Amino acid sequence: MPLAPPNPEDVHVWQVSLDVEDDELRALTSVLSADERERTSRFVRPRDASRSAAAHGHLRQLLGHYLDRPAAEVALGVGPHGKPFVSATGAGWLRFNMSHSGDRGLIAIANGREVGVDVEQFQPELPDPELGKLFAPAEQRALSALTAGDYIDQYFTLWTRKEAVVKGLGVGLLVPLDGVDVLNDRVRLTADLARNLPPVSTSTWNVRSLRQGENYFAAVAVQAPAAATSRQAYSHFPHRSERTR
Ligand SMILES: CC(C)(COP(=O)(O)OP(=O)(O)OC[C@H]1O[C@@H](n2cnc3c(N)ncnc32)[C@H](O)[C@@H]1OP(=O)(O)O)[C@@H](O)C(=O)NCCC(=O)NCCS
Repeated sequence: MPLAPPNPEDVHVWQVSLDVEDDELRALTSVLSADERERTSRFVRPRDASRSAAAHGHLRQLLGHYLDRPAAEVALGVGPHGKPFVSATGAGWLRFNMSHSGDRGLIAIANGREVGVDVEQFQPELPDPELGKLFAPAEQRALSALTAGDYIDQYFTLWTRKEAVVKGLGVGLLVPLDGVDVLNDRVRLTADLARNLPPVSTSTWNVRSLRQGENYFAAVAVQAPAAATSRQAYSHFPHRSERTR
């Protein structure tokens, strides 16, 4: 059964497990392109290689469900800064982004709007204070008002939101991240930064944190439709699904 595209105002966010049994790993690896196999073989640690293969295999399977074609035949391209996209004919509506950390992968699917997603495994150590410079002035003020325990949670919250936005824009972490303010769900980009970004940055962007239990933080960012808020349908692929709002 093919999966229906999200409504244009929705984003589907799928959670996948990257630590899979050998049989499943073989099945997931079998759908990878030669290029993807070569990239997974570059990992030194076997666990990193198998997690990468699982992430890309799940991604292909999921895209195949939406496009109603075999996973191995989903044609993918990459943008100028490395953001992957579906290049198959008839798939013009489908925008996606993937993130993985530890044994968890998230894949966000949107209809006609750019989307970015980030998941990070929680690390209990306080981050290097120098990294505070990656936050916008309003974000830094919010962080500095917090106690150590709250600081680290908020740090991961803001970081995943920020990374989801720059992945949505397709530029990744190459841009000055203190120009991206994700304190509120409506993203604010400084004028200086926006001047140097691709045209998609002139849209309004919305970002939302996703519940991920204690060990992971995650967020999804999506190019907004005119004057509407976005919703996420949040599902575990291929097992179960729930709707957050
Ligand atoms: C893209 C980037 C944000 C990924 O950060 P990360 O925390 O290591 O990884 P995540 O798990 O969140 O995301 C990785 C996935 O994002 C996607 N991705 C890669 N480049 C991307 C980009 N520019 N924009 C959006 N998504 C991107 C891929 O699916 C990638 O999966 P893969 O590494 O298994 O192929 C980071 O590597 C970055 O900023 N790179 C800068 C861009 C760059 O150096 N490009 C070089 C090629 S021109």
